[in-house]
Amino acid sequence: MKSTFPIHVIAAGLIVFGTALSSAAPSAAASVVSLRGATAPPANTAAPAAVEPTVREGRYQRSFAQQPPLIPHDIAGFEITRENNQCLQCHGPKVFKDMGAPRVGASHFRDRQGKTHDQVVRGRWFCNQCHVPQMDTHPLVSNDFRGDAAKP
Ligand code: HEC
Ligand code: HEC
Repeated sequence: MKSTFPIHVIAAGLIVFGTALSSAAPSAAASVVSLRGATAPPANTAAPAAVEPTVREGRYQRSFAQQPPLIPHDIAGFEITRENNQCLQCHGPKVFKDMGAPRVGASHFRDRQGKTHDQVVRGRWFCNQCHVPQMDTHPLVSNDFRGDAAKP
């Protein structure tokens, strides 16, 4: 596309714009204040104590329909790799009864085309994408969300 402005008009415009920017720059920099104020960060900051996940008897109530249920037990050390999924050693369709664990949801066997498979489909393989354990901590950002306590 052909420019509608002759080149010397554009050049003059850039010079005016550039001059405005350079005169505005020092005052803008002076108004930036760190949230920490004048306090320097400590050289060594101790890591906060690790919080253990809450282990509880019975399931968590779901807060809304289709919520992936929260995990009521510790999951440290349960391996999920391309070949192996330790969650399925208790929640898999063949073993869940013997293990006394809830069976993986029926939806976990359906692929995106709606076809049902014998195995958990790959889209549901990494359980922790959707299911998370809970920890009793103070939220960094408070909120007043109230679920509608949907039944599982
Ligand atoms: C050693 C067996 C075992 C393993 C391994 C295991 N679970 Fe569980 N899981 C259970 C049992 C038993 C319950 C039911 C606890 C209860 O009702 O008190 C449960 C409950 C759950 C629930 C709650 C289901 C609901 O309807 O509320 C979810 C979600 C879950 N587990 C996910 C996982 C994930 C993800 C992994 C792997 C990271 C995993 N579990 C590994 C035994 C296991
Ligand atoms: C993409 C998200 C997603 C992934 C990944 C996923 N789930 Fe789920 N899961 C859900 C949702 C949503 C529900 C509740 C609705 C349903 O049953 O489909 C559910 C339900 C469950 C339930 C309860 C079933 C019931 O009938 O009450 C268990 C147990 C469970 N999942 C375990 C697992 C395990 C183990 C894995 C890994 C192999 C896994 N999920 C992977 C989203 C997911």
